[in-house]
Amino acid sequence: MYAIGARTIIRKPRFRVPPKLGVPDSLNCTASRVPMSPLISILIKIRCCAAKQWKMTGKKNKKKAKRSKAPIPLAPPQVMKSRRLARITTTLFHKHTRERDLALKKGDREAAERAEDAIEAIGGREAYQKASQLNTSHHSTSKWAMGVLGEKGLLMGVPLPRADDDRQETNDGRKGKGKKGRKSPRRNLKLLEVGAINRELLDAASKTRPRKSGNKDVCVSEEVPVYRLDVRSIDLRSSQPGIEEADFLQLPILRDSSSRYDAIVCSMVINCVTTPEDRGRMLASLFHHLRPGGLCFLTLPRLCLTQSARTSPEHFRLMLTEGVGFEVERCRESPKVQFYVLERPVADLDVQRNRVLDSRFTKITIINRGKKYRNEFCCVLDEKQVNGVF
Ligand SMILES: C[S@@+](CC[C@H](N)C(=O)[O-])C[C@H]1O[C@@H](n2cnc3c(N)ncnc32)[C@H](O)[C@@H]1O
Repeated sequence: MYAIGARTIIRKPRFRVPPKLGVPDSLNCTASRVPMSPLISILIKIRCCAAKQWKMTGKKNKKKAKRSKAPIPLAPPQVMKSRRLARITTTLFHKHTRERDLALKKGDREAAERAEDAIEAIGGREAYQKASQLNTSHHSTSKWAMGVLGEKGLLMGVPLPRADDDRQETNDGRKGKGKKGRKSPRRNLKLLEVGAINRELLDAASKTRPRKSGNKDVCVSEEVPVYRLDVRSIDLRSSQPGIEEADFLQLPILRDSSSRYDAIVCSMVINCVTTPEDRGRMLASLFHHLRPGGLCFLTLPRLCLTQSARTSPEHFRLMLTEGVGFEVERCRESPKVQFYVLERPVADLDVQRNRVLDSRFTKITIINRGKKYRNEFCCVLDEKQVNGVF
């Protein structure tokens, strides 16, 4: 493969890339000239190597097969194993979906089709979700969210207010048992997972254990849930049973704030939303889908904040607090991921509010200049949406 300016000549490969690897068929034929971005050519190179490796494995197996008559694999494994390939796939998917949506907004159908073809060429949303599954396995959001909920005693449900509340508050602000030693009544915690690509939270909610009996000699066969959780997992494209196909930005917000979610997990999703306006809408929706006191687990790639010309970690934090109205309950970062636990303040009971927004949050502004800041990530808030009108 030789790169000549923006064009690339693809020499006929000595093997045929299995179609399941997602390389477009046109790339399997004799030297063709296709305009191609350098990232796509890297992706194809990696895929070709994977195919070669697969073919070699196939040959080895063929030798063995003579002896053992074991069947030769017909297709390469479908699980994505290379983190580099996963990273490139997600980067390209984000780039092309952004281009497609921008072209659609401008009414440029040709450009939108070109972007759509490029998305198909890398394997579409299916390949993107497989790549995301691999990335997720290195920063398990579910474990993190379950850990924080467990720490707050919320995995055992949300305490219900009692009319005869005679309990003393403990040091951490929680209420202990009442005078009569009765446990406070609880209801299940309502959790929404946005952009779910695995069943980890759904499975946690359906996990059971045998019911404990007061009498050790009595064996009870009844199973009871381990946690008091009601989980709803949604994604634009459902990849597993139980994950509902829905667009979070289209979910209606319940008028009664007490029936809203107690917790929302929105991990590595905001960076997939293609326009700054929709990202702002996502932040405002996360706030309004929560009941007062509810928690939002938000994560995004760190470089969206540290390498962006249009936002920074400080600016984004101010947008979450002074703009949307969240309180940052905790915030931490790994080399690649920024984690936030955000709380809708308990006192914020209003369904519709009258917040006046600073123009720093309603307009795109250049915050950082220089070569380092090549990322375009930013969010734009809409005052109406922040105030609960969608
Ligand atoms: C990078 S994956 C993140 C997966 C997982 N939550 C994690 O922690 O890695 C992003 C997922 O969000 C989904 N997504 C993007 N926009 C969405 C929306 N508006 N509503 C629901 N899901 C959305 C995509 O389809 C994709 O599966």
